[in-house]
This record gives sequence, structure tokens and C-alpha cells, in this order.
Amino acid sequence: PFQFDSKRDAEFERLVKRYPTRESMILPALWLTQEQEGWISAEAIAYIADRIGTFASKVFECATFYTMYHLQPMGKYHICVCRTLSCWLRDKQAIVDYLRDEIGIEPGQISEDGRFSLEEVECLGHCGTAPVVQINGEFHEEMDVDKLKALLAGLD
Ligand code: FES
Repeated sequence: PFQFDSKRDAEFERLVKRYPTRESMILPALWLTQEQEGWISAEAIAYIADRIGTFASKVFECATFYTMYHLQPMGKYHICVCRTLSCWLRDKQAIVDYLRDEIGIEPGQISEDGRFSLEEVECLGHCGTAPVVQINGEFHEEMDVDKLKALLAGLD
């Protein structure tokens, strides 16, 4: 059954002291889960609810409200490409096209080998250094196809 590993367990306990109510821990607990598993299962939602002392439906509501939580498995490397104005003007499409042609994934898809998944997202808040890509939550700014190629080649 799902449970936090020791690192996330310690992080949960550290954070819970900083919040006025245990329910405030829903979002950080979802994040810890996703960090650990890559996605959030129904079992994990039940675990978080139990751990916090709230209803699973409340945890589920939060998990479904925010698009950055994944309720199904993603690729080992989840690539988010910003599609909002600055990134669009600075050719985010070249990045999306490259991923389609080289890796064979369109936004919303996972590669056949499970290595990559692609999502187009709204503004990532780094518009001054567009176009912006996030890989497993890590920001990569002023991206272009060459930089992306180098970045992907460096992944294990
Ligand atoms: Fe892409 Fe803001 S428009 S980061």
C-alpha cells in the first residue's frame, strides 16, 4: 500500500508544524506524493486523507482542481511547454514540433517506452525568459530546439 518514504515522511512532519490547521497540508502532501510516485493514485489520496485526518473527497477536490497534479501515470520525464503569449511569440511551437517529430508525442501523450510525456501549459511565470519548458518541475528558460536536444541527451 502507498505510504510516504522516509524522506517525504520527514518533510510532511516538518511542514505540518508550520500550518495553522492540518487540512492546510493537503496541497503539500499531494506534491510530496507526486514527487515520490510521479502521479497521485486513489490509494495515495486515501493515505493523505488519513494522514491529515480529513475526508478523501476533500483531498480529491484539491487534486482535481489544479492541473499540475497528475491523477494518472506520466512519462518518467514529464515535459511541460508554456503556450501562453510570450512563449508563443518566441516560438514554443518549434519545441512542440521537435518533440512530436523526434519523440513521437503530441501534447497529452506519453511516449511508447514511457520515458516522456508532454503537456502544453499556461503561463509558467517566467515570461521575460520565454520560451519556458519545465521537465519534472525544473525550469528551463530561453529554450530552443538545440538546447532541448542537449537537455534530453543528458537525461538518463
Ligand atoms: Fe510563457 Fe509566461 S508566457 S512563461
